[in-house]
Amino acid sequence: MRPTDFDALWLIFTDPQVMAAFESPPLTAAQMQGWLQRNLDHQTEHGFGLFSIWHKEDGVLMGDCGLELMAINEEQVAELGYDLRSDYWGRGYATEAAVAVRDYAFQQLNLPRLVSLIRVGNHASRRVAEKVGMGLAAEFERHGRPYWQYELSHT
Ligand SMILES: CC(C)(COP(=O)(O)OP(=O)(O)OC[C@H]1O[C@@H](n2cnc3c(N)ncnc32)[C@H](O)[C@@H]1OP(=O)(O)O)[C@@H](O)C(=O)NCCC(=O)NCCS
Repeated sequence: MRPTDFDALWLIFTDPQVMAAFESPPLTAAQMQGWLQRNLDHQTEHGFGLFSIWHKEDGVLMGDCGLELMAINEEQVAELGYDLRSDYWGRGYATEAAVAVRDYAFQQLNLPRLVSLIRVGNHASRRVAEKVGMGLAAEFERHGRPYWQYELSHT
């Protein structure tokens, strides 16, 4: 992900269908800039983070997928996340990206475990997690909302 990806990323995070999954209004430019900067800082600090997903034929930045370190129950884990603009949904792209990031995380970064936090009811995201090989490990509340915790350990 690069600073110049801002405009294309903002299209994703102002897409009403995408934001419905987060039960959130579209991000403002300032919020988007904060999101992007946090991810760029994460990349600098840890050496990995979120990738932008490009559609090769269209030359369109259609989504993001990657890794973010976060604390769950006081344990630091790597979260595998993905978001795609809605006009590219249903073509297997999120799964393709998530499988590539899973393999990168296990084979190159040697991370022991991947976690995905998914809002309860987000069946498309849950299905992607399943296709990546993750299983449901827990259901819990975070910031007052119910989440499924999917995870996969490196064997
Ligand atoms: C989640 C998301 C990235 C999936 O992207 P995508 O490219 O459409 O995903 P894929 O095509 O790789 O796979 C989607 C799977 O979910 C299934 N699916 C889609 N909508 C579904 C629904 N409402 N109920 C059940 N399954 C559903 C598809 O059929 C497909 O499974 P299949 O291959 O077994 O048929 C996309 O919907 C998105 O960006 N949503 C908004 C942001 C978001 O939710 N991000 C994840 C936060 S945890």
